[in-house]
Amino acid sequence: MEISRYTRFDLDRGILEFDKALRTLAGEPVARRPSPAEAVPEDNLREEVRRHAAALMRVNHCGEVCAQALYQGQALASSSEDIKDALARAASEEADHLAWSAQRVRELGGRLSLLNPLWYAGSLALGYAAGRLGKRWNLGFLAETERQVEQHLQGHIDRLGGRDAKTRALIEGMQREEAGHRRTAEALGARNLPEPARRGMRLAARLMTTLSYWI
Ligand SMILES: [Fe+2]
Ligand SMILES: [Fe+2]
Repeated sequence: MEISRYTRFDLDRGILEFDKALRTLAGEPVARRPSPAEAVPEDNLREEVRRHAAALMRVNHCGEVCAQALYQGQALASSSEDIKDALARAASEEADHLAWSAQRVRELGGRLSLLNPLWYAGSLALGYAAGRLGKRWNLGFLAETERQVEQHLQGHIDRLGGRDAKTRALIEGMQREEAGHRRTAEALGARNLPEPARRGMRLAARLMTTLSYWI
């Protein structure tokens, strides 16, 4: 009797988590809040600028797919309630980022990355592993991820070079919220990750961003 109750619980949870993955990868995400780009008029973009902006936004969308998986993995592995709360709050903002960036890719006439399921699986495993290391390392991993995302988004703002104000407004809006996630993790007691770990994360991110720009 006891065993079947636990099995049932695990099955329910498994289905719920699998559903989350499917919705991230295959669903049409719907944002809860309006996009920061909504009120910004569309520039008259040259074809190559439009294609470049679409590719940058495909990379950002891919990053948001990873964020969903990282948060999911970390929450699954964590037993601390305040971490779970912080993760759930940030994940709901990230869900809007996912929807906004998918929408912007489409507006620019681009398509989403074909490699998203691969990055999702890798990020889920990475998030779970970080979650198993305990509260302060888990938060440290989160803070470092958000810090690197902030820098990466700044790189995209620079690469747009003043063209495409609508995409820029969106990236700046997301960047502000990533900084908020980082500050939350720091306030909850994030540890500073050792430099080799930070370097490894930068390398993995570079691989992901380079491939998803094209594929
Ligand atoms: Fe995000
Ligand atoms: Fe974030």
